[in-house]
Amino acid sequence: MTKSEKSWEKRLTGQPDELMVDFVQSLTYDKRLYKYDIVGSIAHAQMLAEQNLITMDELKKIKDGLLEISQEIDQGRFEFDARLEDIHMAVEAALIKKIGDAGKKLHTGRSRNDQVSTDIRLWMRDQIEILRAKITLLQNGFVKMADKYADDVMPGYTHLQRAQPIAVPAYLLSFVEQFERDFIRLGNCSKLLNISPLGSGALAGSTLPLDRKSTAKQLGFSDISYNSIDAVSDRDFCAEFVFDCALIMAHLSRLAEDWIIYSSGEFDFIRIDDSLCTSSSMMPQKRNPDVLELIRGKTGSVYGSLMAMLTILKAQPTGYNRDLQEDKIHVFNASDIVSSSLDMAAAIISHTKFNTKKISAGLEEGFLDATALSEYLVVKGVPFRQAHGIVGSLVADCEKAGKKLADLGLDEFKKYSTLIEADVYQQLGVANIVSKYTTEGSAGPKQAKEQIAYWQKQLAQR
Ligand code: ARG
Repeated sequence: MTKSEKSWEKRLTGQPDELMVDFVQSLTYDKRLYKYDIVGSIAHAQMLAEQNLITMDELKKIKDGLLEISQEIDQGRFEFDARLEDIHMAVEAALIKKIGDAGKKLHTGRSRNDQVSTDIRLWMRDQIEILRAKITLLQNGFVKMADKYADDVMPGYTHLQRAQPIAVPAYLLSFVEQFERDFIRLGNCSKLLNISPLGSGALAGSTLPLDRKSTAKQLGFSDISYNSIDAVSDRDFCAEFVFDCALIMAHLSRLAEDWIIYSSGEFDFIRIDDSLCTSSSMMPQKRNPDVLELIRGKTGSVYGSLMAMLTILKAQPTGYNRDLQEDKIHVFNASDIVSSSLDMAAAIISHTKFNTKKISAGLEEGFLDATALSEYLVVKGVPFRQAHGIVGSLVADCEKAGKKLADLGLDEFKKYSTLIEADVYQQLGVANIVSKYTTEGSAGPKQAKEQIAYWQKQLAQR
């Protein structure tokens, strides 16, 4: 590429350093913005024509040329030359080559600084809708599964120690809640980013009579930005988007951790279908949950992108700085990982079975009914702290004797509290307890069934 082809570098003498050219280019990763770049350019050209800054004939040439370029890229016929730095220059250079002088007018009243911010916003707005659809799909998977196991009970854990019995659907729906917040968060992010920076130029706007509202309207933005300096340097929406991605990964990673544990021989609570398991190159018996481990592992990369994104913004002087070019690496990385991880999580959900027999066989282990027994004593008038102590002693003694609470005779119970009556046996045993949860939002089957109905209705409306 000669100097004359890089029209925007006339100011510089001699040839650019080759290593530098490679170092500053972003074309290898920002080429995926091409459709948005072209759509943005068409809107900009349309506005230039409306404002008599270009003729209708020039507008037609620009539009036709850009659409041809779009097709060439679609079909893999476009030659990307990294010496052109980025997708903006690659498209513009191709346009000028194609249509000549009219192409040279496209960049009137525009800088790559407002252009790139426009492109990322347009891309992100679409990508958020894709991610929200994937979240909905995953939520539907959980709800379907919750419905399938509507009457099953499992141990609930705190500190990964057996805590209280919970309905299997309540456990599954806990993820639907987490992903619902992600769905809302991404929607909020989309609303906030949906303003047009186009017309802010390099940082100070333009002396030309650009109609910013026209381009904003054409591109579906809800408003224009009102400070050109902020508009070209703002990447808050990128940090926010990557944060939203990081939190989705946190939720997926917690699910992955649960299910890696649940699928172990020690737990054996679930069985993931063979089609989604891997094996070992050495140990022939292995069925490994590598997909879940990779979801957990890839979370690190998304967190890394969040830290990178925040650090890129830190300490930049006011205005556009080339540091900002790095934003896309992290935005794309976070988005790609979340996108594939959501797909894989949805696949796992629809290909996993709960070993309900195995789970219920072990339900009476671990004193899951101890808290309910304390509450039984509370109803009999014992202050909770005292009831907690009584049941603590009961559990310690039972453990020594190798017994369950329900194994004790009434006379034995009476030694701990004379208030314990024969009705105590209705408050012991896992099956009795889950049906007795009464607070709204409890982890019992009754509440879970209400929530299944709620989510079925809610998700069907999307
Ligand atoms: N490739 C650049 C980016 O991604 C476009 C803006 C470059 N602007 C500039 N004045 N060098 O941020």
